[in-house]
Amino acid sequence: MIEVSQLTRVFRTYKKVPGFWGGVKGLFKREFEETAAAKDISFTIAEGEFVGFLGPNGAGKTTTLKMLSGLIYPTSGTARVAGYDPTKRENAYRRLFALVLGQKNQLWWDLPAIESFHLLRAIYGIPAAQYQATLDELVDLLTVREKLNVMVRELSLGERMKMELIAALLHRPRVLFLDEPTIGLDVVSQRAVRQFLREYNRKYRVTILLTSHYMADIKELCERVIVIHKGAKIYDGALDRLESAGGARKKIITFLPGAGTAFPDTWQSRYGTTKRADDGKFTLCVPGENVVSVSQEILSTGPVADITIEDVPLEDVIAELFAAQA
Ligand SMILES: Nc1ncnc2c1ncn2[C@@H]1O[C@H](COP(=O)(O)OP(=O)(O)O)[C@@H](O)[C@H]1O
Ligand SMILES: [Mg+2]
Repeated sequence: MIEVSQLTRVFRTYKKVPGFWGGVKGLFKREFEETAAAKDISFTIAEGEFVGFLGPNGAGKTTTLKMLSGLIYPTSGTARVAGYDPTKRENAYRRLFALVLGQKNQLWWDLPAIESFHLLRAIYGIPAAQYQATLDELVDLLTVREKLNVMVRELSLGERMKMELIAALLHRPRVLFLDEPTIGLDVVSQRAVRQFLREYNRKYRVTILLTSHYMADIKELCERVIVIHKGAKIYDGALDRLESAGGARKKIITFLPGAGTAFPDTWQSRYGTTKRADDGKFTLCVPGENVVSVSQEILSTGPVADITIEDVPLEDVIAELFAAQA
């Protein structure tokens, strides 16, 4: 459904030389910097897949989604979505996909959402019966029927995002690009949006590429993740496999009130990954098979107030992946 080959986008940003003479100089010779927001990115996504697109801020996620939507052009490389070249911006392609940007509103602020939906119906030329059926279904799934006549700017963030999703889905796109759709939402709305996306993907086999800051979104929705860092792809595969890289280890968190630094220093040299907080909390990451022996040793060496053993969270595994690439 989606085929991306060596997709690259370079942005030029002009440097401003400070002061009057700098400005004058800039009129003749502008100095610029080039940033590769996306570098040689290749991947394919099959119909119906729900893929997580991960990476720290500035990694190039939004840039890639914008290229796939035909909003910006690649510097080099190609993308094909359902056989279409997004750069051609064909009408048939516009009907096939939708892009939802969590940080940007696509609905009209000063109109109730229902008015925006009517306008979209006209823009896409959706037959009346189909429009009504789709709208009813989406409104019920997202439980926003009583908010349809409220001015968009008066809706809560969560309600607004639900309306954005309805707007994006009215024309029944086959491919969805979701850029941080849950950003800033309260936990309840986040969960509602997540649940809706999962059901929608299963029911209609819509292909979805999702970026999110919230690992819970990715964990609950995506079996496969593509990770990018500084514009380049560094991982593409099962989320499980990424998790098991951390799953082989456990985190031992020990609370040692008033302990000297002696213990932790020997831990550091022996276990490597030790983290120490000011409040007397120490964290060690050890291989799973050593958890018992290391905990026993900790307990026998000092006045331990508390000790807990946890899995290494996915966030940490991914952070390590980024650190290894830096
Ligand atoms: N219009 C633009 N002009 C210049 N630089 C840009 C522009 N858009 C994005 N960038 C740069 O490209 C990089 C990737 O940005 P972006 O795709 O928004 O990252 P992400 O969505 O992963 O946070 C960043 O370094 C960003 O500053
Ligand atoms: Mg972004």
